[in-house]
Amino acid sequence: MKANPESLANLRGQTRYIDDLPEAEGCLHAALRLSESARGRILSIDAKAAKDLDPSVIVIIASDIPGENQIGGNKPDEPLLPEDEWEYWGQPLVLVLAKTRALARRAAAALAISSENLPFRLDPRKAAAAGDFILPSRTIACGDPAAAFGTCAYVVSGRVDSGGQEHVYLETQGAYAERREGGKIFLVSSTQGPTGVQKAVAKVLGLSMNKVEVEAHRLGGGFGGKEDQAATWASFAALGAWVSGKPVKLYLNRKDDMRATGKRHPYTTDYRIGADASGKILAFEAEYYQNSGSTCDLSPAILSRTLLHATGAYRVPNVRVTGMMCKTNLPSFTAFRGFGAPQAFFVIEAAIDAIAKAMGRPREEIQRANLFTEGDSTYFGMPMKGCRAVESWDALLAKADWNGLKAGITAYNASERLSRKGAAIIPVCFGISFTKLPMNEAGALVHVYSDGSVLVSTGAIEMGQQVTRKIGLVASRTLGLSLERISIERTSTLTVANTVPTAASTGSDLNGMAAKLACEQILGRLAVKAGEILAVPASSISFAEAQVRVDGKPSGLSWDKLIEAAVDDRVDLSAHGFYATPGLFYDARAERGSPFAYYVYGAACVVAKVDLVLGTASLESVTIVHDSGTSLDEEVDLGQIEGALAQGLGWTLLEDLRFGEDGRPLTDSLSTYKLPDASFMPEKTEVEFLPPVKNPYAPFNSKAVGEPPLQYGIAAYFAVLDALRAARPEGKDFYSIPLIPEKIEAFLSGAEPC
Ligand code: MTE
Ligand code: HPA
Ligand code: MOS
Repeated sequence: MKANPESLANLRGQTRYIDDLPEAEGCLHAALRLSESARGRILSIDAKAAKDLDPSVIVIIASDIPGENQIGGNKPDEPLLPEDEWEYWGQPLVLVLAKTRALARRAAAALAISSENLPFRLDPRKAAAAGDFILPSRTIACGDPAAAFGTCAYVVSGRVDSGGQEHVYLETQGAYAERREGGKIFLVSSTQGPTGVQKAVAKVLGLSMNKVEVEAHRLGGGFGGKEDQAATWASFAALGAWVSGKPVKLYLNRKDDMRATGKRHPYTTDYRIGADASGKILAFEAEYYQNSGSTCDLSPAILSRTLLHATGAYRVPNVRVTGMMCKTNLPSFTAFRGFGAPQAFFVIEAAIDAIAKAMGRPREEIQRANLFTEGDSTYFGMPMKGCRAVESWDALLAKADWNGLKAGITAYNASERLSRKGAAIIPVCFGISFTKLPMNEAGALVHVYSDGSVLVSTGAIEMGQQVTRKIGLVASRTLGLSLERISIERTSTLTVANTVPTAASTGSDLNGMAAKLACEQILGRLAVKAGEILAVPASSISFAEAQVRVDGKPSGLSWDKLIEAAVDDRVDLSAHGFYATPGLFYDARAERGSPFAYYVYGAACVVAKVDLVLGTASLESVTIVHDSGTSLDEEVDLGQIEGALAQGLGWTLLEDLRFGEDGRPLTDSLSTYKLPDASFMPEKTEVEFLPPVKNPYAPFNSKAVGEPPLQYGIAAYFAVLDALRAARPEGKDFYSIPLIPEKIEAFLSGAEPC
């Protein structure tokens, strides 16, 4: 395979992130003073000691904000700087500018802030008991679960917990801002959503959006952390530039980033599941307590995805699921790959595990018997079309040689003293579309230059997922040109307006479709011109291999010659394409509709080994069968599957986000927060793509890939649990992510899980 030049540059460390950008003359550096308690009130701020360090130090507080001190996108509960109260440990209180970053940090630390602490709450269940919600709760119901439970041969209920997850993008949050003439401001932001940044900055500075230009280059990762929350740091840089009149660069160090920014939402959930004697699931109920943190942020959209994935890959006729957004004094939890779905998948898989155990039957029998099949409807009334759940499951069992694998594990466990093995399968059905319906749109701008080369701009942000390559491939296939002749421009609010963030795995679907539509407009005009030149009807013209074809046969007229002729004849060689996903609807009052364009399917099998002495789990193998539709680029998709798997395994087994009882972040560095690394990853990972299928909702029948494979990591929980049960059949089950060695030890020793 030919190496992708962009990936090579990235691998070699040649990519320029915000902090690598050259600074204009006089550039100031920003630092923030963060709060040091879970909740408190500012009484006074004395800047003397900071100014004493250097008189040029600039100290900016809430009252210096020229526009509105508010950046909350979904609810106005997020002041950029607190006027009075702060709501979590690590919240920015004061912005400081200085000639160097080191001086700015020292000055921020030197500020004398007098304050008083206020009562705070960290526990979402306690917040719920006190009625402290970000927004009202939501329930999706179908059938009559109460009656159905009465008819069930088995009913099991319990509690499921899952922890937060830190993004640990390679590039921390940051932005660069310059005040420009004409009352304008220019920003480069490490954001997944330039339009969101533009909106927030306009609001904070009191400007109209046409005075704010936001550019985004390749990010050193986002993983959801820069979908909404990049706006905070961009707004600080913009505010600094506006107040000082100088360019300002803001770049968080790792510790500040880990303290101040949002992470995956922790959830705690009560469930109840019922099945008939044959193992058919008849009813499922869940109450999800989402720990939303201190502000609204994306919590409602994330809760929505939780509620829409409550039954995972399974058909359940009677359902009642309620989600609560519990307000706590922790950093506002935010988007993280999977966006509320992994939390829901873990709950339903735990419930199925529990009921299978109650029946004394293998978990995978119950899973297989209840998979969605073609023509089923979800509990919110969406028909499953092109359903590949059973196909994925059966293909996986064959690929992993499930029966042989189980027999091998049984034999191993019978002969080993100090370790046990276990295996588990997870099926995945992941809905593709933004859960907030109006967000399902994208624009593109395409120019063909007079030398025949092509420039494509869209709203898509490149953050390592290779959306640039995918859009390039779409343009290349549409125009019939080689990839080398297509250049993908960085993302800017000047070229494409009102963009949605690159998120929900829809980046290449939506922007690829928009780019394709723009290319097709230009081709339409070129076909007329080519028809004239060749004296054939425009309808007989097509384009391939940089040549014009007539009725599919080479005409002798090259792309370059045609472009020359088109320029001479004043043909418009630029076009704007706009795509809005068709067919989506959702009735929020009835909680019924078709919120997703389609589903991505797949299944994974994980084999894990537990060291009974150390209490550590290691991964032997992961086998995956995955539906990429008709993949645009299998190498890219494979990279996405492996990356998402690593994050899923990390969330499930390793990453232990902790706060002290006082709300202090305890895992704010890479020495206290454990990440999956190469040695943690399974010795063997095998991925097989399901046969290609058609998908009209993405370019060239491809399918989104970014988030669905994260769910595969959840199988590791049940694989480890299996190994634990083999070691100690009477052990007390618990469902609590991450399954860290402390919990493994607790199971093995019969102690209460911590
Ligand atoms: N891959 C890399 N390398 N870096 C990232 O930040 N983000 C993930 C996924 N894959 C991410 C990534 C998330 S959370 C999403 S929603 C999708 O990429 C977004 O990009 P796409 O829609 O173009 O797939
Ligand atoms: N995923 C990611 N971001 C979003 C979504 C979603 O489903 N809905 C709104 N913002
Ligand atoms: Mo991804 S969590 O939708 O940015």
